[in-house]
Amino acid sequence: MAIRQIVTKGDPALRKICRTQLNFDDRLAMILDDMADTMYEAEGVGLAAPQVGILRRYCVVDVGDGLIELINPVILEQSGSQIGPEGCLSVPGESGTVERPMSVTVRAQDRNGKTFTVTAEGFKARAFCHEIDHLDGILYIDKLSPEGNE
Ligand code: NI
Repeated sequence: MAIRQIVTKGDPALRKICRTQLNFDDRLAMILDDMADTMYEAEGVGLAAPQVGILRRYCVVDVGDGLIELINPVILEQSGSQIGPEGCLSVPGESGTVERPMSVTVRAQDRNGKTFTVTAEGFKARAFCHEIDHLDGILYIDKLSPEGNE
């Protein structure tokens, strides 16, 4: 396991549409382990592959209730809305107010390629949406709410 460098705003990797992850192999496992280490070391609650320069569709999230790895995640359903503060390890030292769904159901694969669905509410739903946006080159600063931002 190793800490990887997190790229920051301005790096083209953050603006790419990432590709589907097809290989569920030792290399994927190693990168996921590194990403979790990197996220925890940076005291973040989520990290997406493009943030470590890998243009593939996966991310790690831990909002305090355990690590979850989402490979090729797709939002199947979303409901409600919440407006609240958000930050990003790739936009250091800043935060902004963003509207997100209150609840999302995501279908993804685990590191072995097994498909699962997970429903998240509140802050965890926000984290899922933020990380999945990264896989399409979208940053939270693209979505600032008129409420709470100047
Ligand atoms: Ni982010």
